[in-house]
Amino acid sequence: MADTLTDATEEAASPVPGYPMPRDAGCPFHPPATVRKLTAEEPISKVRIWDGSTPWFITRHADQRALLTDPRISIDETRPGFPHMTRGRAEVAKVTPKLITNTDAPEHTRLRRMVNSPFTVKRIEALRPAIQKITDDLIDAMLAGPKPADLVTALGLPVPTLVISELLGVPYADHEFFHHNSTVALSHDSSAEQAMRAGAALSEYLDGLIGKKLADPADDMLSQLAARIKAGEMTRAEAATMGVAVLIAGHETSASMIPLGTLVLLQNPDQLALLRDADDPKVVAAAVEELLRYLTIVHTGVRRIAAEDIEIGGQTIRAGDGIIFDLSAANWDAGMFPEPDRVDLGRAARQHQAFGYGPHQCLGQNLARVELQVVYSTLYRRIPTLRLAVPMDEIQFAFEGIAYSLRSLPVTW
Ligand code: HEM
Repeated sequence: MADTLTDATEEAASPVPGYPMPRDAGCPFHPPATVRKLTAEEPISKVRIWDGSTPWFITRHADQRALLTDPRISIDETRPGFPHMTRGRAEVAKVTPKLITNTDAPEHTRLRRMVNSPFTVKRIEALRPAIQKITDDLIDAMLAGPKPADLVTALGLPVPTLVISELLGVPYADHEFFHHNSTVALSHDSSAEQAMRAGAALSEYLDGLIGKKLADPADDMLSQLAARIKAGEMTRAEAATMGVAVLIAGHETSASMIPLGTLVLLQNPDQLALLRDADDPKVVAAAVEELLRYLTIVHTGVRRIAAEDIEIGGQTIRAGDGIIFDLSAANWDAGMFPEPDRVDLGRAARQHQAFGYGPHQCLGQNLARVELQVVYSTLYRRIPTLRLAVPMDEIQFAFEGIAYSLRSLPVTW
């Protein structure tokens, strides 16, 4: 009884905030004020999530790096106490085969080795001319079409979708099917049943494609996975699930960054001019890092669970405790990035955590970087008069996915 009273009193004195928190009105790009306050004042704290549990909440850049590389934390979503994003994701986790996104070393190392090679800097650099051509063709089509245009459907979505379809060996003609199911599978608004049905549709689709590649291999990533099945290095279910993960992650994320980055630049014309007039690829590359930092589109925290007790910052994270890493908090940690709310394309932002950190750091980061470098350095140069076709307060954001995005971005020129 006494314990209960103490707990209740303590909770009243310092209520655990709910997570994820809504953004503040009028500041769609800023992490919520509570997240920023916790980063400054209580960097290792707790939040309450949808199921009432209170995982640890890690906000500072240095603490995130220390923990995300600590072998005592696990990404195994089937451990009791794992801080799932939603009820739907908790249900899906029970039936998801082993995959790079839910395994720890040494299993993770084995699976990741199977998919690393198409994503090395060298292989991705070789795709730059093809990405440039895709971008130029889409801008030609946009210029030839009616005004205003929606930058999401004209450029944001098709560039990464065409690129990942080509890289994986998935027919682009099926993009409406796989985009719809990816969105449902990842949305916080989907029920468990909807998320599972969408995931199953995608797995079945990828399994069918792998069947075709087994019979008739081509020069693409699904054919490489098919070769590994033949060599007995992975199962067909593992290969199909891997294909789903790469297809989803490979088009949704860059598709969010292209219109969001453009919106930020249109709000900061001096910075847009710097990027538009840059001849040095290093300036363009630095600009992309700063936009990745500033926007941090993966905005609802990457999730882990402690497999052993861990001491950090005067706190003890017990084995079995859930842990949430808010990447936007780390990317807006003023100790690491002074004046984080200023878009400064010249700043050294490369140490940002928009791609996560540690063994699960984004597989597709080199690809995302090149896509964004090509699109941002081409679009504003080819259409120097590009501007919003509606007032800023009419732009609709979509915050319900793992990566936030824009529903549309009407632009004219
Ligand atoms: C701007 C674009 C992107 C952003 C911001 C982004 C962000 C992230 C983040 C934060 C993680 C770490 C998740 C965690 O630690 O739990 C991650 C992992 C991952 N990303 Fe990306 N991503 C982007 C583009 C891509 C692309 C283009 C691909 C595909 C080709 C991709 C494939 C993956 C995969 C497969 C993982 C899981 C890696 C693992 O668990 O070992 N991502 N991404």
